Amino acid sequence: PSSEDVEDELLAHLDANAEIPDSRSFASSLGVPHRDVEDVIKRLCAFRIVGSTDMTKEALVLTDEAKGYVARGSPEVQFVAAMPPKGAASKAALQEILGDVFDVGLKAAAKKQWIGFDKENEDLVTRRVKDTKDELQEQLKRLENGEVFDDKVMEGLKRRKLITKEKSIWYSLKKGPEFVVKRKTLATDVTRDHLKSGDWKDLEFKDYNYGAQGQPIAIGYSQPLLEVLEAIQNIFVEMGFSEMPTNMFVESSFWNFDALFQPQQHPARDSHDTFFLKAPATTPQLPDDYLEKVKQVHQSGGYGSKGYGYDWKRDEAEKNLLRTHTTAVSTRMLYKVVQNSFAPKRYYSIDRVFRNEAVDRTHLAEFHQIEGLICDYGLTLGDLIGVLEDFFSRLGMSKLRFKPAYNPYTEPSMEIFGYHEGLKKWMEIGNSGMFRPEVLLPMGLPEGVNVIAWGLSLERPTMILNGINNIRKLFGPKVNFKVIKNRPMCRLGCSKVDRSSAGGD
Ligand code: PHE
Repeated sequence: PSSEDVEDELLAHLDANAEIPDSRSFASSLGVPHRDVEDVIKRLCAFRIVGSTDMTKEALVLTDEAKGYVARGSPEVQFVAAMPPKGAASKAALQEILGDVFDVGLKAAAKKQWIGFDKENEDLVTRRVKDTKDELQEQLKRLENGEVFDDKVMEGLKRRKLITKEKSIWYSLKKGPEFVVKRKTLATDVTRDHLKSGDWKDLEFKDYNYGAQGQPIAIGYSQPLLEVLEAIQNIFVEMGFSEMPTNMFVESSFWNFDALFQPQQHPARDSHDTFFLKAPATTPQLPDDYLEKVKQVHQSGGYGSKGYGYDWKRDEAEKNLLRTHTTAVSTRMLYKVVQNSFAPKRYYSIDRVFRNEAVDRTHLAEFHQIEGLICDYGLTLGDLIGVLEDFFSRLGMSKLRFKPAYNPYTEPSMEIFGYHEGLKKWMEIGNSGMFRPEVLLPMGLPEGVNVIAWGLSLERPTMILNGINNIRKLFGPKVNFKVIKNRPMCRLGCSKVDRSSAGGD
């Protein structure tokens, strides 16, 4: 029967009998699932045509596991039945026959001392009884027929997850204040047929629903990365930083590595980590005076440094690459600051960098870096820590920890860890340090000027803030626009980590 049929039957029944004491028996008298009757009841109650009282009862019912034992015997009996009448059987063979029941059956049969184990051979089980009586199956069958045992037995069955409490809901029904035997369906439109037949005169119309939600508007939605980028940009601006030009994705090795005192044999310069360009393969125009000083500092040091003591090659410095960090931009800017007469600066950048990395849920070969730097006279590590605390607390992370680290261009260097209040754990959030004299002095920065700087990826905080656990959902061809459109407008707490991709992509 259709939902309309059920409704007609229900109303006719109420009209004749004034009440329906149990919606479950009414459903079975119609031969429909209780769910279907429930839907009709909800609808009729909303129109006050029918009044209902909720009835609930908790009952103990057999779990699926227990139903299996009723049908096939208890696991201990199944276990013994799978063994030969005499002698020993191998566990592996029994496992093969019994599948899921093997573990439970082995335990239960051993407890009843129906089986024994071979001290010499761990894989062997011996049968100790001829016949077994299936008390558990008997008990479960009786329970199924409505019998109840004493509390101790029931508790034991519950602990073995063989019975469970199940709540059932049904309704007792009577006529409501708006009771009718046949519900009038209200018209929402005047159709051509109504006009032709003339029955539009008798139509009753459905009221307008002024509380209804409108259609979603087709407008643009912000990408989470851009949203976090903007928030971080605002933080930098509030803190008095100005933006560095980051439009050069292609850089020479000189600015990306050499000027940063990164030796030419450094593993990060290997093509495994760096994308080198085929065309144009090199940048021949480099500032010659400065280049000469960089060469000297690598080869033999100076400015109080011993250098690396190797034969520095201009060819290597000219090789073009996709910049591996935005520190390449910082290097260029520091050099530029010196060209005009030096003045203290606060600079930031947020843009793309590239690394020849295997792609996984937290790594892409192309991602964004956030970088901040301050150059001024007499800066200390304390200044760096203070600026980092200010910066990250504005992002919602006010508990920081630092761990000594190594970068070729900074000394000291520190990894930054932040305590995430939502996830209740410490996570690595960035890298930082004070630029080495080997970087600053060849550029011509005045003695006594220090540069403190830090860098982090944009993707990581965005994933944390939005509870996204796979970077490919955030950036690149696998981004699902629907997810971005349906994102909540505010991030509440960010304690939820999205697990919807577990086992997915
Ligand atoms: N360039 C570093 C990186 O790619 C980050 C960094 C920036 C470290 C500035 C120290 C100073 O991880």
